[in-house]
Amino acid sequence: MTRFRPYQEADAPAVAAFFVRGAAQDPGMRAVTAPQWAAFAARQRDARFSNLWDGDQVVGVAYAWPHRVGQEHAYHFCIFVDPTRRRMGLGSRLFETLPQDLPVQCRIQPKWTAGAAFVEAKGLRPTRAWINMTQSNVGSPPSPRADFVTRPAEVSDFDAMARINNRAHHFESETTADSLAQHAKDESTSVMVLVPTASPEDIAGFCIYEREPDGTGWIDNIVVSPDHQTRGLGRHLMETVMGALGAMECPSVSLQVNADNPAVALYDALGFVARSRTRLYTSST
Ligand SMILES: CC(C)(COP(=O)(O)OP(=O)(O)OC[C@H]1O[C@@H](n2cnc3c(N)ncnc32)[C@H](O)[C@@H]1OP(=O)(O)O)[C@@H](O)C(=O)NCCC(=O)NCCS
Repeated sequence: MTRFRPYQEADAPAVAAFFVRGAAQDPGMRAVTAPQWAAFAARQRDARFSNLWDGDQVVGVAYAWPHRVGQEHAYHFCIFVDPTRRRMGLGSRLFETLPQDLPVQCRIQPKWTAGAAFVEAKGLRPTRAWINMTQSNVGSPPSPRADFVTRPAEVSDFDAMARINNRAHHFESETTADSLAQHAKDESTSVMVLVPTASPEDIAGFCIYEREPDGTGWIDNIVVSPDHQTRGLGRHLMETVMGALGAMECPSVSLQVNADNPAVALYDALGFVARSRTRLYTSST
């Protein structure tokens, strides 16, 4: 007999055991430890978590958080069912626990065939796609340019960075100076800005990147202001950041890019290779 219970911190070990069992059978699930899950749930302050229990075992997990992609507000969700209990309607019961006041959205890799079939069965339709790319030969920093220099971001830069981000990114959610500052607080995160040598207070571009716990590099966001695009600054900033990650001994650097974004050509030219794709499914029409 299964029953739902909203997540409480004391449930983290049972949720972690669920993901460990699931990952042993389904490559689409990743093992986590109880402290990792507790930290993840604590960070997702706006998210609603619901667990499906059978006795003292978690057999299904759903969580949803309000999110905005482009102009669309929605709940982004993830649902996982114990691999030994699939096609018994448990995923559908978890889906019914999702909040109803906004459309729901989910990101699915094409190789997760059950996930794609499931969300399509729930009436969601595929929309935009992202490519995950990796470069395994991080390289050394580029030669300096005379006209632009890079330096670590300062708190006073975040307003200008948010403005540039929102003008340059047609594909993603808008950001604010606050959310950039919040992000930059994370110990593993670095933020580099690119400024004209002649007027170092003007921000021409920036990059947010980090060294992941497994030692690999991750480029979270790279932006060149529309006023400065097509002058080789994107390449220069990428090479500078890759050089910085190389100096941190990252064996590889990864990023995720919207499949329609012309930046894919830059990453190709820099030797990044597509590793996987994810597609956004949405219930809105
Ligand atoms: C996707 C997932 C949550 C589905 O859970 P489930 O309990 O097996 O789903 P249900 O039994 O409620 O299935 C509902 C409908 O979805 C469709 N569906 C689900 N799995 C399917 C599969 N493997 N192949 C084809 N259709 C499938 C069917 O239409 C099914 O109805 P039916 O069984 O009457 O034909 C589960 O496979 C899972 O945990 N996968 C790994 C994580 C994942 O990809 N999550 C996706 C959302 S983030």
